[in-house]
Amino acid sequence: MELVVGILSKLLLTWSSLGSNSGDPTIRAKCLALKSGLNIQNTTILDASYLPVKSKISTLGTCQSTATHSASLCRVQFHTNTTLTSGIDAEAWLPDEWYGRFLGLGNRGLGGCIAYDELDYASSLHFATVASNNGHDGDSALPFFQTPEVLNGFSFRSIHVEAVVGKQIVEAYYGRPHAKSYYVGCSTGGRQGTQAALKFPEDFDGIIAGAAAIDFNHLVHWTGMLSRYLGSPNAASSPSFMPLSMWKLIANEVLRQCDGLDGVFDRVITEPDACDFRPETLLCREDQVSSNLCLTTAQVEALRKIYSPLYGLDGELVYPRYDPGGEGSPLISFTFSGDFPPYTKQWLEYVTLNVSDYNISDYGLNHGALIDSVNAGDIATFNGDLSAFRDRGGKFLSYHGRADPIIPSGNSRRFYDLISRTLSMPNLDTFYRLFLVPGMDHCAGGLGAANFGQLPGTQTQNSSSHNILFAMVDWVETGVAPDSIIGTASDGATRAHCRYPVRSLWNGSAFICQE
Ligand SMILES: *[C@@H]1O[C@H](CO)[C@@H](O)[C@H](O)[C@H]1NC(C)=O
Ligand SMILES: *[C@@H]1O[C@H](CO)[C@@H](O)[C@H](O)[C@H]1NC(C)=O
Ligand SMILES: *[C@@H]1O[C@H](CO)[C@@H](O)[C@H](O)[C@H]1NC(C)=O
Ligand SMILES: *[C@@H]1O[C@H](CO)[C@@H](O)[C@H](O)[C@H]1NC(C)=O
Ligand SMILES: *[C@@H]1O[C@H](CO)[C@@H](O)[C@H](O)[C@H]1NC(C)=O
Ligand SMILES: *[C@@H]1O[C@H](CO)[C@@H](O)[C@H](O)[C@H]1NC(C)=O
Repeated sequence: MELVVGILSKLLLTWSSLGSNSGDPTIRAKCLALKSGLNIQNTTILDASYLPVKSKISTLGTCQSTATHSASLCRVQFHTNTTLTSGIDAEAWLPDEWYGRFLGLGNRGLGGCIAYDELDYASSLHFATVASNNGHDGDSALPFFQTPEVLNGFSFRSIHVEAVVGKQIVEAYYGRPHAKSYYVGCSTGGRQGTQAALKFPEDFDGIIAGAAAIDFNHLVHWTGMLSRYLGSPNAASSPSFMPLSMWKLIANEVLRQCDGLDGVFDRVITEPDACDFRPETLLCREDQVSSNLCLTTAQVEALRKIYSPLYGLDGELVYPRYDPGGEGSPLISFTFSGDFPPYTKQWLEYVTLNVSDYNISDYGLNHGALIDSVNAGDIATFNGDLSAFRDRGGKFLSYHGRADPIIPSGNSRRFYDLISRTLSMPNLDTFYRLFLVPGMDHCAGGLGAANFGQLPGTQTQNSSSHNILFAMVDWVETGVAPDSIIGTASDGATRAHCRYPVRSLWNGSAFICQE
């Protein structure tokens, strides 16, 4: 308990007097009673089980067959009808040792998958935690095909229902309502958190949204265009294609040109926008043939396009450029395998055009314009008017890896600037903070100081300086906002991540945040 510092311990003292459930002999009975004793509109309790010691459990849905819980808790599985043609499957994990906090979780990709590892993480930190399947099973857009209410669930409704129903289950079980409510998610989960702040500003007091898949239509389109620039290994007309093995060459050249710009050669680029990567240095000389050592003109041209912002048919910016620095990630296969990205293909077919199959061989800017104009389910999630969330006292923490090969960090900066302009606030410090994380991959991982408690497996210290969940609790419950977040790299090195637009500068012995 020594390590539980700061606000969590303070509130433990305050709230344990309200009656922690540990030591209550009727706790198991109380949990099992939820199975028949709960009457929540449109909701069926599928099961309620009391799990006193760490164990392996079976799961709902087809995404994974088993999961692990660590804390001693009451597990409630439920289904809620959200409309006549849609519903969610969800789980509430209610720890014995509870400090009055509710926490909702998001999903990933086109998911479909209950975030069991995150349920485990947050319930171990004593949050009453709820996660849902986002209204469908599996990681595909097929369930949205000609079922607009299932699409609406994915776009905006599931997290709201999870919060509304979850809070009722929490109150029924603990005999008192939650004191504060939180949300944590990354990628699609980051988009869901942003959508919650926009459409249901009352649901959460604090929202943590990482590497958010916001401006979703443009993201889906940009991913398709990157793949198109690269071409495919099978098409004779694709002299630009480079197999994944060749990206090592590109990764090394990006670092050769840009690693030292921040003052330190550590294979981490602090400011990718300062990197004016010139792929021409990799061109084969006349006497060379393309190989893992040099590139053809067509390949260099493809890289030029990949590292440039994407503009639409009308010349407007559609999406920021690929961040130089993420090429070493195994996740580059998501975009650069040579197969047209499945999320883009499925979104175009099942959601935009409402056809079961579409030949994407001529995919181009006009398809992006169509995806955007249909904006099915109001999925875009790119509206800078967070005034309702701000005015009800909501706090928002965003973070984004600067070596993210799936969603470029420039998009999170662009959203910050959009909110700034929309609300006429020169900076958003009072309610919204964005931490840019040099060298971090998508949501976690990479060579940077990428561990700061944002996800399971990234917790180093239970403190608000090193764990973004603790930082959020501090902000919401005591008004102390994080000026920086200290991340820890896999080798143990630490680095303070700065809130945008504060810069991260090398002072000769450490990176410091320069106000
Ligand atoms: C949910 O919808 C199904 C199918 O329409 C219906 O059979 C069931 O009774 C509903 N459940 C609740 C709790 O409303
Ligand atoms: C219950 O379901 C009905 C119809 O499916 C819907 O109109 C209503 O809003 C739902 N209630 C809640 C609390 O979600
Ligand atoms: C396809 O269906 C969605 C609703 O699921 C709708 O928003 C969209 O307009 C439809 N697309 C076309 C091209 O009709
Ligand atoms: C897709 O369209 C291209 C170009 O129009 C054509 O060459 C190709 O055969 C089509 N593929 C399929 C599977 O129909
Ligand atoms: C953080 O606190 C939780 C719950 O009290 C505990 O299980 C976990 O081991 C702690 N982690 C660290 C790194 O101290
Ligand atoms: C650089 O910053 C670190 C961390 O704040 C500090 O300990 C060190 O003294 C600074 N070095 C110089 C040269 O200012």
